Amino acid sequence: MSAKPRLFVTRNFPSDVMVRANKTYETTRNDEDNPLSSADILERSAGSDAILCAATEIFDRDLIAALPDSVRMIATFSVGYDHIDVSAANEKGIVVSNTPNVLTDATADIAFLCLLGAARLAHQAAATLRAGQWERWMPSQFAGVHVTGKRLGILGMGRIGQAVARRAKGFDMQIHYHNRRPVEARGLDEAIYHQDADSFLAECDFLSINCPLTPETKYFINDESIEKMPEITVIVNTARGGVVEDAALIRALKSGRVAAAGLDVFENEPNLNPDYLGLDTLFVLPHIGSATVETRNAMGFKCLDNLDAFFAGSALPSQVEI
Ligand code: DGY
Repeated sequence: MSAKPRLFVTRNFPSDVMVRANKTYETTRNDEDNPLSSADILERSAGSDAILCAATEIFDRDLIAALPDSVRMIATFSVGYDHIDVSAANEKGIVVSNTPNVLTDATADIAFLCLLGAARLAHQAAATLRAGQWERWMPSQFAGVHVTGKRLGILGMGRIGQAVARRAKGFDMQIHYHNRRPVEARGLDEAIYHQDADSFLAECDFLSINCPLTPETKYFINDESIEKMPEITVIVNTARGGVVEDAALIRALKSGRVAAAGLDVFENEPNLNPDYLGLDTLFVLPHIGSATVETRNAMGFKCLDNLDAFFAGSALPSQVEI
């Protein structure tokens, strides 16, 4: 019997995933789930054939260059791969895979939770109640922004953007989107494509950010772009924190230029900018877009399907191609 491939597993992934990983691979694990520095990753990947990581580990060019030559694949437990310098990996002959499809619905659900939570001031209302400060029903208290029938702008019409659009149809929202190219897909027949960012921003009663973080999308939301949006707008981000310049959004929430924001992601995670904390119009979650048991298992199994295919010499179900 040939030896099992050696797999360095950077996080404590769901137990069903680890059971399967341990059957097929000789694993080096991080059962304590400690954050790992580049030095830790280098030390622990010694002798490994592949690495199973999450979006919490940054594989920049320097780290990739320093990885042992034995490492031939990095499978990330995420659809986003902005934490991996894929060009540097490919130049070194390292294949990278990710987990598209399996987290589409879970993430679109959280986008809608953020949209509704922000629009309807859910944080403020729930916090008041829990603090024992809700005195009585009042006609104008907790009056948020009406959702049904409004215009929803979707930045990034990939799988998750499309799933957000389908959910929005249930709220009779008119869909506008900005994407590299127009998309034909189920539920998008009436969606309006904007090649131009400015014409798109002008239609965003609500904005849902569903694009990857790239040099082009970094700080798409900033002081200038906010000024191009309608007066009472709600910004929702379930993609990557870096698409929004937090300082600009905080200024706009403080001044009322942006009515509310729903964020599942933010800059410098896990450290939320403290200036957000006093803002009642912010509904914020700790990056739980894909956090259902079913989805997290499916993400782990997808990583293992990719790794198994690689070591069998077959095409990967989801290799990152750039
Ligand atoms: C993803 O899959 O990219 C999620 O954001 C988790 O990192």
